Amino acid sequence: MAVAIPRRFISLPDLAEARGVAPAKYTQGLGAIEMAVADPSEDTVSLAAEAGRRALAAAQLDPDQLGLLVVGTETGVDHSKPVASFVHGLLELPRAMRVYDTQHACYGGTAGLAAAVEWIASGAAAGRSALVICSDIARYGLGTAGEPTQGAGAVAMVVTADPAMLAIDVGISGASSTHVHDFWRPLGHRVAEVDGHYSVQCYLDALAGAYRGWKDRAGVTSEQLARICYHVPFCKMAKKAHAQVWRCDLDDRQHGDPLATWDAAAEELAAARAFDTQVAPSLLACSRVGNIYTGSLYLALASLLDHDRTLAGQRIGLFSYGSGCTSEFFSGVVGRRVQDRIEALDLGGVLAAREQITIAEYEQIMAEVSPQPDSARPGFAFTGVRDHRRQYARS
Ligand code: HMG
Repeated sequence: MAVAIPRRFISLPDLAEARGVAPAKYTQGLGAIEMAVADPSEDTVSLAAEAGRRALAAAQLDPDQLGLLVVGTETGVDHSKPVASFVHGLLELPRAMRVYDTQHACYGGTAGLAAAVEWIASGAAAGRSALVICSDIARYGLGTAGEPTQGAGAVAMVVTADPAMLAIDVGISGASSTHVHDFWRPLGHRVAEVDGHYSVQCYLDALAGAYRGWKDRAGVTSEQLARICYHVPFCKMAKKAHAQVWRCDLDDRQHGDPLATWDAAAEELAAARAFDTQVAPSLLACSRVGNIYTGSLYLALASLLDHDRTLAGQRIGLFSYGSGCTSEFFSGVVGRRVQDRIEALDLGGVLAAREQITIAEYEQIMAEVSPQPDSARPGFAFTGVRDHRRQYARS
């Protein structure tokens, strides 16, 4: 895995002050501390290419070993030419491979990962590996309820038959999908439309269905999972999600034993304790970056593996949610070589390399449309459109 995030961020207490909101609403109510701010030079392609470059370097994979590149994104840069095609060119990957984007809101990256995993498991990969990248820029209007839940970033994953970090339980997953208007971005709009509180309910309903589907296939419950990573639109959502999983387990137990009595207060306390152990470590990076849509679940996974170095050999759960909506609960076993890979990922270094900006500077960046790349900063940057073609540079 590798992570690429914008070079600038704002503090959420600063944003709260500027919007006349109590800072605790953002820091405790939503669980957010900082938020990544992407300028126009840091688009979905440049973030994806940088994360992909870092992931290939960390895995020490010869690009000729790749047979598949998938980018999961809901922030495409063209109606026809996929982000993956730009990344393929920028990373100078081989011709003999499949290259495409996958889209379903924040689930798009998981769709790409599932395609890669099943391609390898089916034998069709014939020994080749895949590069899956989740890259997005989450943008709501200034001053809206969604504003403190923005963010931007990319997470790249090299998928092989011999995984170092996580061996996914192939075929053991539960999915849940319904046609809802909880969150969408009409063609041509820069910012998303969202029915905020309804979207939270849609997420929780989908989670209940997907979790029960996984549970039926796996034959175990959430308590047998060492940790669970959820899609993190804002950190408090993961807390609500874990309480939902706990509720599902409790309801299922009650269903199987209708005469038993349950101590609701004790169950609530147990759920809160379980959250601290099973979920909280996955939220450290998310609380400093914000929602990165397709990559949020995988940023949570990177954060978990970075923070908790004792998980090798243990099974963890993952929940991916994409508004609209579709969702999947799946699981995997943490690899024995996770330590090396997490050190190469250097999440602490990636976060520390950023610069904090003021709210006035953030508002100015949000209004900008022309890229002003910083050539002193290593990475890919969008430099503008010439002859109807998007141009990128690497410094
Ligand atoms: P809001 O309505 O302004 O906030 O926006 P609120 O009034 O619901 O307050 C939020 C929390 O802060 C509440 O906690 C308050 O009690 C608490 P909760 O009751 O929920 O536990 N609070 C305080 N806490 C401490 N001190 C205070 C204080 N004041 C209030 N002084 C909303 C919240 C989430 C609706 C908004 O941020 C939003 O619309 N966000 C965008 C939508 C979103 O993130 N939805 C999540 C589910 S959908 C999803 O995950 C998919 C997505 O990633 C897109 C995709 O799939 O592509 C979004």
